[in-house]
Amino acid sequence: MSKIPPHIIDDIMQASRIEEVIGEFVSLKRAGSNLKGLSPFTDEKTASFVVSPAKQIFKCFSTGKGGTVVSFLMEKEHFSYPEALRWLADKYGVPIPADEPATAEQLAAISERESLYIINDFARDHFKNNLHNSEEGTAIALSYFEERGFRKDIIEKFQLGYCLNTGTDFTKAAISKGYKLEYLEKVGLVKSKDDRQFDFFRGRVMFPIHSVSGRVLGFGGRTLFTDKKIAKYFNSPESIIYNKSEILYGLHYSKGDIIKYDNCFLCEGYTDVISMYQAGIQNVVSSSGTSLTKDQIKLIRRYTQNITILYDGDPAGIKASFRGIDLILEEGMNVKVVLFPEGEDPDSYSKKTSTIELENYIKESTQDFISFKASILLKDSENDPIKRSELIREIVHSVSLIPDQITRTVYMQQISQQFEINEQVISNELIKLRKNVVVKQAPEPDFYKIPSPDLQNQQPEPQILQEVSYINEEQLIRIMIKYGTRTMQYDQIDENNQTVFSETNVIEFICHELNEDKIEFKHPIYSKIHSLFLDGIAKNELLSINFLKRLEDQEIVRFVSDIESDEQVLSSKWLSNYNIITRTEGDRMSETVMSAIYSLKLSKIEEHINDIRIKMGQTEMLTDELLMDLLAEQMVYEKIKIIFSEKLGRTILR
Ligand code: CTP
Ligand code: MN
Repeated sequence: MSKIPPHIIDDIMQASRIEEVIGEFVSLKRAGSNLKGLSPFTDEKTASFVVSPAKQIFKCFSTGKGGTVVSFLMEKEHFSYPEALRWLADKYGVPIPADEPATAEQLAAISERESLYIINDFARDHFKNNLHNSEEGTAIALSYFEERGFRKDIIEKFQLGYCLNTGTDFTKAAISKGYKLEYLEKVGLVKSKDDRQFDFFRGRVMFPIHSVSGRVLGFGGRTLFTDKKIAKYFNSPESIIYNKSEILYGLHYSKGDIIKYDNCFLCEGYTDVISMYQAGIQNVVSSSGTSLTKDQIKLIRRYTQNITILYDGDPAGIKASFRGIDLILEEGMNVKVVLFPEGEDPDSYSKKTSTIELENYIKESTQDFISFKASILLKDSENDPIKRSELIREIVHSVSLIPDQITRTVYMQQISQQFEINEQVISNELIKLRKNVVVKQAPEPDFYKIPSPDLQNQQPEPQILQEVSYINEEQLIRIMIKYGTRTMQYDQIDENNQTVFSETNVIEFICHELNEDKIEFKHPIYSKIHSLFLDGIAKNELLSINFLKRLEDQEIVRFVSDIESDEQVLSSKWLSNYNIITRTEGDRMSETVMSAIYSLKLSKIEEHINDIRIKMGQTEMLTDELLMDLLAEQMVYEKIKIIFSEKLGRTILR
């Protein structure tokens, strides 16, 4: 991929709405001028994830992650920088100049993860093309979908395709395109046997499985043969881009309606999702290639607290729905159930009815989980008191999984009324069962281990002095970022010892001051930002905060947006150390700038003095001559220190 020109990056960032993009991943609620939601990066129950539409940045207080819409997509969807920009350009209709073909060098630089995504995209397009444009595809596969009643627009929307039955059609196409066999095998599209390669999904109609943003992570493939010995569905294996337990089929298409209707319909498979969607019920997902997992439920929780399970009324479907109910309750969410007549799933049922009838059926058949379990279990325990008590225990068991006590109590009352049993009896049973739950949910022993540090956030191990100097460095960089383009006035002493009134911008002033004393930033990020400012000055450009937020280096972007959201831990440390009130710092620019400069200079001097002391302490190496030199050096620094301290203490500026 060729580079995107800077002015186009500007256009893309201008057009993008961070609240809209992130809103596809989590349900955001207004909180003052910001929006708030559950962090999409961690499993949390109270919202600590904030998006600022005004500043076009986000901050996750649970994980410390933050940045722009590009940072978000890179973090959440593992896009590379150009991929994130291209995705946004596509979403917001910003034209990007056509790609020049990639050079071999560029291809080699693409990471494994990106390669797997590229291969899946290629496969999806190849399979789609087979479906619509090959003789075999139209004759067998397209006609199959049509027989199933899938509309053209739906086939298109869900990007359905077909893998030819020749056995090597896809493999050949992919290899000739230059894709590595190793990667083709990793995503499970190609299998090797005795040094021969063949298409894993040959003769199957293909259902691409998408991430929330629409990246293809894997495929489900349904055979078109009726041979009972052939597995009806094949699914892609897990890979670094595909973690089955954390993906829901259809979520990419349904998230908007899930938020809108504050409910998510959960079905068993691909065909159910597609048919429901086609029938106009579009807040629907299914697990794909696995039975329902805890993580999938947590994924839904980012959009809604309410799940309605839609399963087949056969024994397998009922068993699966019992399991689903308990998993959902355990996550503290609300669950309802719609059971279809035995042998019918949402797919088959929706084909037999009109949309209105389907909607009505769902409305009328929706049961809360207690009534649902009761109706199923009552069937074979009509008048048998022992079976009846087992049934009640079974229902109380589900209630015992609910984390919230008030909710548990409400359900307990419902059971008591429904089965005409004394509340106390149920309550006792609940307490007994609850003990098991609490033991089960208790932290594992390794919970007590010291938490391993977040490697991404780790900064070089600071010694105390180094830390002090980082705090000062941070403060100065913060001022350059926040106020860099402002003009500031200061007094200068000219060659005739006359005080002259001068004016410049904050960035140039600071860079000049630092240069005078040959001071450089030690902290790697600050040092990078400092060089950027210096480059800017050399080119006569004053870098704005928006310029910095558009950089590829996400460490810088995160740092800059943290400053914008005023949530830098280090700043508050600095504040308490030096008693500067940030609220007024902008009003007294020169003072703010000067004290930050001298604080940094002072800490650098102290570091020097400390180095000298350490050298003087190493008695084995110390000759008299060396000692004298060190003492002299120390005296010079102590003098400078006094001068700087005085400058810092005095108000020398207007
Ligand atoms: N499914 C699966 N693996 C299987 C069987 C089913 O992943 N071995 C999932 C698929 O996602 C499928 C859903 O369960 O869409 C429903 O199963 P089923 O009705 O058996 O699949 P259909 O393709 O609808 O088959 P049929 O035409 O026989 O109804
Ligand atoms: Mn079916």
